[in-house]
Amino acid sequence: MTELLSLPGLAGKTVVVTGASGGQGLAETVVLLNSGANVIATDLNSEPTAEMLELSAGLAGKLHYRKLDVASESDWADVAAFAASLGNGVQGLVNNAGIPFRARLGEMKVEDWNRVMGINLTGPMLGMQAIAPLMGPGSSIVNTGSAAAVTPHYTVSYTASKWGLRGLTHVAATEYGARGIRVNIVHPGYIETPMMAAAPAVMTNAQLALTPLERTGQPIEVAAVVCFLLSDSASYVSGAEIPIDGAFSSSGGVKFMSDTIRNAQQAK
Ligand SMILES: NC(=O)c1ccc[n+]([C@@H]2O[C@H](COP(=O)([O-])OP(=O)(O)OC[C@H]3O[C@@H](n4cnc5c(N)ncnc54)[C@H](O)[C@@H]3O)[C@@H](O)[C@H]2O)c1
Repeated sequence: MTELLSLPGLAGKTVVVTGASGGQGLAETVVLLNSGANVIATDLNSEPTAEMLELSAGLAGKLHYRKLDVASESDWADVAAFAASLGNGVQGLVNNAGIPFRARLGEMKVEDWNRVMGINLTGPMLGMQAIAPLMGPGSSIVNTGSAAAVTPHYTVSYTASKWGLRGLTHVAATEYGARGIRVNIVHPGYIETPMMAAAPAVMTNAQLALTPLERTGQPIEVAAVVCFLLSDSASYVSGAEIPIDGAFSSSGGVKFMSDTIRNAQQAK
């Protein structure tokens, strides 16, 4: 993680973050704490990791940790009961947890499809069902999509789960708007996290060839946008889809064509 950010408009809020033990979720947790928010960090492990404890030590906000499998309705009920017991309501929810699955359409097995959907799509739905009742006006929910949510990325179950999450986001933004709860979705591109550590080099190279900023992103660069959306500074932003991808999705692959043509012209 690079330099630690502190954003205005977050102090005193209580925010639930899923998948908080690593990658983007850990970066979001630490930025929130540094901005004075109290965080209910959740993940599959039963205790907070040593890294989480170390990074959160001495920051302005208070860290709470609860075990949560986002696909489990009863786990969500436990987290909601814990959050209610703190007596401050909940002002933020980051549905960050997600898993990759790189099977193509022809080799997709139903049990794997259902597992990916259960975590990446049903998880955020259960999270909103459990936590939104604790939220009042000015609260904010951020869902974590992907550049795969706006493209036909070959990883069929992952891609379909993230496209589904866009629909869920817009339903929730419409449903909760009258209560003053904002709901947005971010679409990270290639971000350097443990999830991408297993990505084949050929995939990394192809991604870079298609990304106008010509580099991968860092978890803190996603955390900055997510924390802005959670903050009061984003008080009129709801139903938005925000790419954090170095212009990968907006360029629609034409960087590759543009570079190819330029290289051919220069070779003449
Ligand atoms: N890293 C990228 O390039 C990238 C790109 C686009 C979207 N995303 C999305 O960003 C989010 C975070 O990704 P990341 O790269 O930080 O991943 P990561 O694998 O580094 O971290 C994900 C965290 O989620 C947790 N998790 C997995 N299954 C869970 C479950 N069932 N319940 C609760 N927690 C669970 C893991 O334990 C882990 O701590 C995911 O939704 C991912 O799809 C990542």
